[in-house]
Amino acid sequence: MTFRRPLIAANWKMNGNRELVQATATMLQSIDCPHEILICPPVIFLADFPKSTKYCLGAQNTSSEKAGPFTGEISADMIRAVGAEYVILGHSERRSLYGETDATVLQKAQQAIAAGVTPIICFGETLSERQQEKTMWVLAQHLDAVYAAHPDLLARSVIAYEPVWAIGTGLTATPEQAQQVHAFIRQHLARIDQQAAAQVRILYGGSVNAENWQTLFSQPDIDGALVGGASLKPAEFAAICQMA
Ligand code: G3P
Repeated sequence: MTFRRPLIAANWKMNGNRELVQATATMLQSIDCPHEILICPPVIFLADFPKSTKYCLGAQNTSSEKAGPFTGEISADMIRAVGAEYVILGHSERRSLYGETDATVLQKAQQAIAAGVTPIICFGETLSERQQEKTMWVLAQHLDAVYAAHPDLLARSVIAYEPVWAIGTGLTATPEQAQQVHAFIRQHLARIDQQAAAQVRILYGGSVNAENWQTLFSQPDIDGALVGGASLKPAEFAAICQMA
């Protein structure tokens, strides 16, 4: 059985302020957690976090370019310079609202890795795709578009399964639904690189909270969480982090 260190990640999205930075940092300093804890605030707040061994920091996006005339963009070297060790890429909100594709996700992931930042690459199906029983087919297409072309990326990234219909809706995948998809992702990727597929951490995201996380986390192929709304409440996020 391959050990995969659990990763509990907070995706603040476009929320938060310096008070939440302070409250979250103080709360996480006060707990003992065996897992890796990651906070991904809006990038403007990264430098406000006190240095700590209790958590690491990440960004929610980065440019597909290394540097240059790209107004408004922030490069992987820049997010690394303000402390980001991870970057969330391909989140369904970026795919649906900003037209991101697997191709742009791949370019961004390569920039992140070149800058020493680990990409957390998000995949998930829409409600209609699930209702049409296309979930595994859709995920296979996305996984192949990113990893079949660049197998070396698998050992250097984290995967997040985020059913689009569970994001921000309060509708959470059941532990059985989530485990079925996580196991499929791992089996599908084993065709590309068996060892890397066994070692890659696959996080679940989609309405995770302190009530539902324990049963989700008990599933063999769920290696952590990508927490949205609940991560904006320091006490609830700390409770999620402490679950074994
Ligand atoms: O990236 C995590 C996010 O999409 C999940 O949001 O609010 O459903 O936990 P939420």
